[in-house]
Amino acid sequence: MSDVQIVRAPDAPTPGWTTGLKEFVALSDRSHGARLGSIDYQFRVSEWAAMWVAREQTDQLLWLAVTDGRVVAAMQFGLPLQDNLRLADGWLILDPEYAERASELFDALWDQAREELVRRGRGLVWFWHLTAIPDTDEAQLEPRTGSGAVLADETADWLAGTGFGLEQVEVLARLDVDDSLVGKDFAALTADAEAASEAYQVKGWVGPTPAELIPAMTELRARMSTDVPAGDLAMEEESWDEDRIRYADALQELMGRRTLWMVARHRDSGELAAYTQLSVVDEVPELAWQNDTLVAGAHRGHRLGMRIKLANLEQLREQAPGVRRILTGNADENAHMRSINTALGFRPAVVGGVWQLELGAE
Ligand SMILES: CC(C)(COP(=O)(O)OP(=O)(O)OC[C@H]1O[C@@H](n2cnc3c(N)ncnc32)[C@H](O)[C@@H]1OP(=O)(O)O)[C@@H](O)C(=O)NCCC(=O)NCCS
Repeated sequence: MSDVQIVRAPDAPTPGWTTGLKEFVALSDRSHGARLGSIDYQFRVSEWAAMWVAREQTDQLLWLAVTDGRVVAAMQFGLPLQDNLRLADGWLILDPEYAERASELFDALWDQAREELVRRGRGLVWFWHLTAIPDTDEAQLEPRTGSGAVLADETADWLAGTGFGLEQVEVLARLDVDDSLVGKDFAALTADAEAASEAYQVKGWVGPTPAELIPAMTELRARMSTDVPAGDLAMEEESWDEDRIRYADALQELMGRRTLWMVARHRDSGELAAYTQLSVVDEVPELAWQNDTLVAGAHRGHRLGMRIKLANLEQLREQAPGVRRILTGNADENAHMRSINTALGFRPAVVGGVWQLELGAE
């Protein structure tokens, strides 16, 4: 008989409900620490706990595999509730000391998870799995987009063997920050971006979206689900309305994140043309995430992406002077965004495979 026990984390808030989240984060830290040399890439317990309490827009599921008295593998899923109603989007994590038992542990987790996903009508499953950037002589896998590669490790073997297809590779890049975050280093970039975008004015804020900007922001934020390169990932357009903006802003607060925003407005038409967002997690004050950046199609080609990112970095320097590193993620093939990030000094740190499966097609 197997010595592996599969435990489903209980819904919040039942007694002891955070234990599973703490175990999950400790497992992620062991896995990422050993394989990637950093634990920056996974949400902290406080962030997960907030997402488990505020489940109006995304439901949460988590299974843990326990053996030898410790959690050694896990599968987590977020189930969108506003759109993308067939999707389960999650992580699978393995304790590096149990790499040899990858298929046994993941099979046991997947047996239970798959049944529940079918029960909930979630026929489309994505898993994220981060690896180091493969060296040319290391075994590696190319995604269906043909752009980038991930290491062919035990987790990737299990995913491929279970029928998941590697659709896309995301590059997570890091900018190390010192006191000169903004200033001399960025003066030329700033002058160039401002000259190319004189027809626009920028405006920044910290925290919830100002009421007068909400209608325009619903349109820009919906475009993040249509305009970002997504290969053959079966992503539907997200539906954003005022409630969703307010809820998303409130959730960031509950997650203990300070959010810094910058938008650009076209002076003549008054149209909101672009936005970008950085967040700083209270629990890790030296780390910031560069999240969404989008320029609406009709306004591209005026260096607005660069301009609003630079302006928001300036805001970050004022608001969170303790930040020492900034992380961001882009599809490997997203040449337009990546060239802006490279010019700012971001350098690739790790890669993430996005694996997709249609249940029933495996
Ligand atoms: C990445 C992005 C913000 C860059 O927009 P931008 O600041 O207007 O780009 P630039 O002004 O630097 O453009 C430089 C050139 O690339 C072109 N270009 C920019 N983005 C383009 C795109 N997505 N597709 C085709 N061409 C694009 C511009 O038209 C311009 O061409 P030109 O020199 O012939 O005039 C924009 O492409 C975008 O919003 N993409 C979708 C959202 C996204 O992928 N975000 C990143 C993930 S978080």
